Amino acid sequence: MLKGKKIILGVSGGIAAYKTVILARLLVKSGAEVQVIMTPNAKEFITPLTMSTITSKPVISDFFTANTGEWHSHVNLGLWADAMVVAPATASTIAKMAHGVADNMLITTYLSSKSPIFVAPAMDLDMMRHPTTVHNLELLKSYGNHVIEPTEGELASHLVGKGRMEEPENILKVLSDYFATTEDMAGRRVLITAGPTVENIDPVRFISNHSSGKMGYAIAEECANRGAEVTLVSGPVSLSTANERITVVPVTTAIEMHESVMARCEESDVVVLCAAVADYRAEQVCDKKMKRGSTNTLTIKLVENPDIAKAVGAKRHDGQILVGFALETDNEEEHARAKLEKKNLDMIVLNSLQDKGAGFGTDTNKVKILERNGAINAYECKSKKMVAKDIVDIVVNNYLKK
Ligand code: C5P
Repeated sequence: MLKGKKIILGVSGGIAAYKTVILARLLVKSGAEVQVIMTPNAKEFITPLTMSTITSKPVISDFFTANTGEWHSHVNLGLWADAMVVAPATASTIAKMAHGVADNMLITTYLSSKSPIFVAPAMDLDMMRHPTTVHNLELLKSYGNHVIEPTEGELASHLVGKGRMEEPENILKVLSDYFATTEDMAGRRVLITAGPTVENIDPVRFISNHSSGKMGYAIAEECANRGAEVTLVSGPVSLSTANERITVVPVTTAIEMHESVMARCEESDVVVLCAAVADYRAEQVCDKKMKRGSTNTLTIKLVENPDIAKAVGAKRHDGQILVGFALETDNEEEHARAKLEKKNLDMIVLNSLQDKGAGFGTDTNKVKILERNGAINAYECKSKKMVAKDIVDIVVNNYLKK
């Protein structure tokens, strides 16, 4: 369940940090990619070297590396993770999380994180039952964080009571169970187009667009993580995936993308058309580099590319779910709905270039999902990973489960 999952393991300064070494080992053995963040006090209990050796990744503790000035971006880390686990969470760290006291890398990352958060408290029994701690844990729960309750037993102080950090094996199980319950696309075949297409003019020049492919890849990861078998027909992008449930079919031109999609769409339960396909290509592709002419204008005759979404919509079969995208600059909803109807789709994901943080190249997106039945689901600006979750949630809850 944790294979390929990106986990931030936040360690704060309590004696239970020694158990977090085992937790890191268990996470790595389960196939997770683990990034450890330690508070300054955590480093008094266990060393960064222990954790970096176990996780094969340098531990992050400071906002920047002192000798090089390299900045560690808590924002990027927050967006990178599929889950963040704070273990042990001391009374102080819990209080800082509850009230946004962002004075170390663990807390800034927590505040920037868009992923589920798991908190495993560990402290002495009196600290644990102090009204402040009780209240702060309630606050964390009210923010949607998952608190992994500490157990009762002998504590480091030799007192007996509640405050022992849950055993690493059980924390691992909480995480595995969390990801297992979201296998709601098991047995489904999903076909996704992503990225731009590149249409050659000559061996050197081409027509393309700024699509990074990030949205399509995020949807592919989300579907695969929820149990689907995914085929990702991808235009040229600088992204890759290590997910075993995703088969990438690399293509360059719209014609190639069209062929790859048409060969596979029949067998697919869900088709997501996320690619920014060039609408036109050069009628003639010169086999030699075109030379500057004697006139100051140049005309290249363009011919229309196939509309892949429309072609899939035309031959859709019963029960198949089709999802399109629309990037608009004006009269957004009207244009998006017209595309949904013209291409015979079930839903269309609208993003507007007018919105800050939406569209090409960014790690974030702000979308509305328009459905065939007239429903409009509007969302805040969030990471493309979380947008992918929203899209797949609608596919699963409103279509596959019905
Ligand atoms: O380019 P347009 O705004 O019409 O794109 C809307 C939807 O159609 C998107 O989902 C896009 O991936 C898809 N499309 C396609 N083939 C094209 C043009 C667009 O699949 N040639």
